[in-house]
Amino acid sequence: MTPRTPRFIQTVQSDSREERAAAIAGLLRTPAQASPKFFYDRLGSHLFDAITELPEYYPTRTEAAIFAAHGAEMARLIGSGASFVDLGAGSCAKAARLFPLLEPSLYVAVDISADYLQDALRRLQREHPALQMVGVGMDFSRSPALPAGALAGASGRPVFFYPGSSIGNFTPQEAAAFLAGIRAQAAGGGLLIGVDLVKPAAVLEAAYDDALGVTAAFNLNLLRNLNRSAGTDFEPRDWRHEALFNSAESRIEMHLAARQALTVRWDGGERAFHAGERLHTENSYKYGVASFTELLRRAGFRASRCWTSDDNWFAVFWAEA
Ligand code: AVI
Repeated sequence: MTPRTPRFIQTVQSDSREERAAAIAGLLRTPAQASPKFFYDRLGSHLFDAITELPEYYPTRTEAAIFAAHGAEMARLIGSGASFVDLGAGSCAKAARLFPLLEPSLYVAVDISADYLQDALRRLQREHPALQMVGVGMDFSRSPALPAGALAGASGRPVFFYPGSSIGNFTPQEAAAFLAGIRAQAAGGGLLIGVDLVKPAAVLEAAYDDALGVTAAFNLNLLRNLNRSAGTDFEPRDWRHEALFNSAESRIEMHLAARQALTVRWDGGERAFHAGERLHTENSYKYGVASFTELLRRAGFRASRCWTSDDNWFAVFWAEA
């Protein structure tokens, strides 16, 4: 039997002029903003993988412990043979660990970083030669609607997988719309999703400002990507990483603060920053079990089950569409 090879679909690349205009508009705001999508080039994806290994970054290992303790029960509820859609698949490692339990009939890995995804999926296909695999390179941050053909030939019910509390990188309003978009595609199946919970600020701030400076490098790498995409002349050495918990908004905020007064220039414009002035790069919202259950209900999911870690730091929800 000839081994299967993953099928790849690359959605229409976003208009680079439009992307540049949006990035410049963010820089001209007060406070200045940049989209977290600029974290994830190939280097950024590797830096994020390194973050997940850090002792301070509890979400990945806490979520893995929940899957280890309750994965069999989740699999019983979900059933085998699903078309398993992994949103933000990255290295595909989290989904692959569930294959023996879920026994999907199709694996669809979706990620904005298409190069990184292709490498990961080709490796995974060698380990699972019989499983049908599809890679989709797309920026699903605006909408989780899969391109036509992604589920072509799928026989199992659609089960979406959105681990790692990536849902926290949307505002609650955006999250509700995003979840509704998943529900619309998951009829007869559902959504398995990891959600980071509110906890003491010191624990949260350490998780986003680690001793080795890996998260700082991840944050600063956004400037290199902005230079490439928007034609700016950011010098990463001029910026300092900052992470703080905003309890009123229930979110970790990541910023880059100018080390001294400086001006960032691009073709046709510039933005002056005073010493200490910030560029806001990311929010990571933290939920309670009740507030997230309500969000799922508002998004139209019929019912949900939830498993939490012993310390109540993280939760995994199975929501039926
Ligand atoms: C991808 N996302 C869930 C991460 C988070 O925790 O919000 C991104 C991240 N930013 C800094 N560290 C990790």
